[in-house]
Amino acid sequence: MLEHGGQLRAAARYGIPLADWLDLSTGINPIPFAPPPVPPEAWSRLPEEHDGLEEAAASYYGTINILPVAGTQAAIQALPRLRRPCRVGVPHPGYAEHAHAWRSAGHEVKELCADEIAAQVGNLDVLVLMQPNNPTGELFANENLRHWHEELSACGGWLVVDEAFIEASTAQSLIQGAMPQGLIVLRSMGKFFGLAGARTGFVAAHAALLANLREALGPWCVAGPARHVVRAALLDRAWQQAAKKRLVQDGQRLAQLLRDADLPPTGGCGLFQWVQTERAEIIYQRLAQCGILTRYFAEPSSLRFGLPGSGAGWLRLVAALDQEIVCTP
Ligand SMILES: Cc1ncc(COP(=O)(O)O)c(C=O)c1O
Repeated sequence: MLEHGGQLRAAARYGIPLADWLDLSTGINPIPFAPPPVPPEAWSRLPEEHDGLEEAAASYYGTINILPVAGTQAAIQALPRLRRPCRVGVPHPGYAEHAHAWRSAGHEVKELCADEIAAQVGNLDVLVLMQPNNPTGELFANENLRHWHEELSACGGWLVVDEAFIEASTAQSLIQGAMPQGLIVLRSMGKFFGLAGARTGFVAAHAALLANLREALGPWCVAGPARHVVRAALLDRAWQQAAKKRLVQDGQRLAQLLRDADLPPTGGCGLFQWVQTERAEIIYQRLAQCGILTRYFAEPSSLRFGLPGSGAGWLRLVAALDQEIVCTP
């Protein structure tokens, strides 16, 4: 199992009760869409397709070539099994589940830093990218992405773009009305909408690829209650607009707070800031001793900070960062 943010129970070694943690270790929106009440039939009946979820997704994402899945993680694990062993490029640093899934399915995985990609596309069958990248926040120009898609799909290859955090960035989605061959876009309900526990995401791709993926995942992939709540979230344009506006402000506030603490972010987006520093491990530990959980990366030595969700949370972070500076050796 790979390490992830949000593992509060694993932080028990610091002896801080679960309820007292300020969890900044994920990029999940700390002010989530408020789920409407779930009708009892959503629990008691088998979920049915076209109960309004696919329609809401088509309207939100702008394509009917869209498949609900049990979190983008389900698609990340299933996609590599739809191809014969091939050469796959994944970004490093990046969300490690991509490399792990392709390797586990027997593919040859090359980990690439962002500036190596252009030169390597010709040697790949599949290129996986995150837009924006997690944890670096890096964005790719859509022009480059389109160019790489054309190059790969001309030889039967794929460009997989994981847009998990795209609503919290300035990037334009690659999803288009009729999804072309060789372009696969992943969208998560766990980040911008803050519904990580609903374990729902979407895959936009050419209809033939979606049919294969649907077959691989089997029936009733997304639970009834999750379908109900996610449908409501996708339809609530007023909530979406307000959340986008707030994330821009909160992302800037977090970046400024870190700059003030002498931890200038190397990159980020509205939902997280990434700080590359040789002192990442010690800062991680000191913050954890104050009950603030961040995401530590050993390689490269760095920390990812998610957003506090309340005024009290922001104050705690400011106080802990002040103390951090005081404690600097
Ligand atoms: C870049 C990226 N993609 C996908 C996922 C998986 O998200 P989910 O399965 O909740 O949709 C994560 C989770 O952290 C992520 O960071």
